[in-house]
Amino acid sequence: MTAPLMIAVDGPAASGKGTIATRLGEIYGLPVLDSGLLYRAVGVLLVRQGGRPDDAAAATAIAEGLAAEDLDDPAFRTRQAGEYASQVAVHSAVRLALRDLQQGFARRPDGAVIDGRDIGTVIAPDAPVKLYVTARPEVRAERRFRQLLAQGEAVTHVDILEDILRRDARDGGRADSPMVRAKDAVLLDTSEMTIDVATDAARRIVEAARAGRGSPL
Ligand code: CDP
Repeated sequence: MTAPLMIAVDGPAASGKGTIATRLGEIYGLPVLDSGLLYRAVGVLLVRQGGRPDDAAAATAIAEGLAAEDLDDPAFRTRQAGEYASQVAVHSAVRLALRDLQQGFARRPDGAVIDGRDIGTVIAPDAPVKLYVTARPEVRAERRFRQLLAQGEAVTHVDILEDILRRDARDGGRADSPMVRAKDAVLLDTSEMTIDVATDAARRIVEAARAGRGSPL
């Protein structure tokens, strides 16, 4: 019997990791979990009930009650939600409360794809395939700017670049589960790639890992 194909896709905001995770899920017929949505949901639901992202206890109570079915709200995909997410994500108790749900998904017998910041390092350190997807901050800001404009948000490129740099610093600098490339993750820099080219590169990384060849790039 072959081991389940669990693919961990980590990386910073707007690096392309979400789209790559979705495409890999389609290619290999695997369910996909966008773990960032969990943190976004906690942040938005907390503020909606009058709380503040720096209130670890209140954020944890929400995280403890969250289910994978609760992630459909478009409000979780806004610029503000990304900021709240990164603020609640610094609390260790919040991360712990969301861990079982993610690890349960990672252990599905048929395999899974999960994208986030700490999937290859903390949630599924034994994943047989790990990618760390990145791109230059200016490129990521441009992608996110276009995405938010298409969603109808009034944003400027400069604001989004600031958001991205601030979030990179907070996510990479936090004490618990910082955003970092796992030692055995293959680096995929999508700065000069279209999404089709990036998906193809990701697919080759998966194939090489399955064949035990390491990085094909
Ligand atoms: O889509 P984008 O990359 O902007 O963000 P996301 O993946 O939705 O994640 C939003 C925030 O949640 C990140 O900035 C992190 O602070 C946090 N997060 C995390 O700490 N751990 C994860 N596995 C996923 C997201």
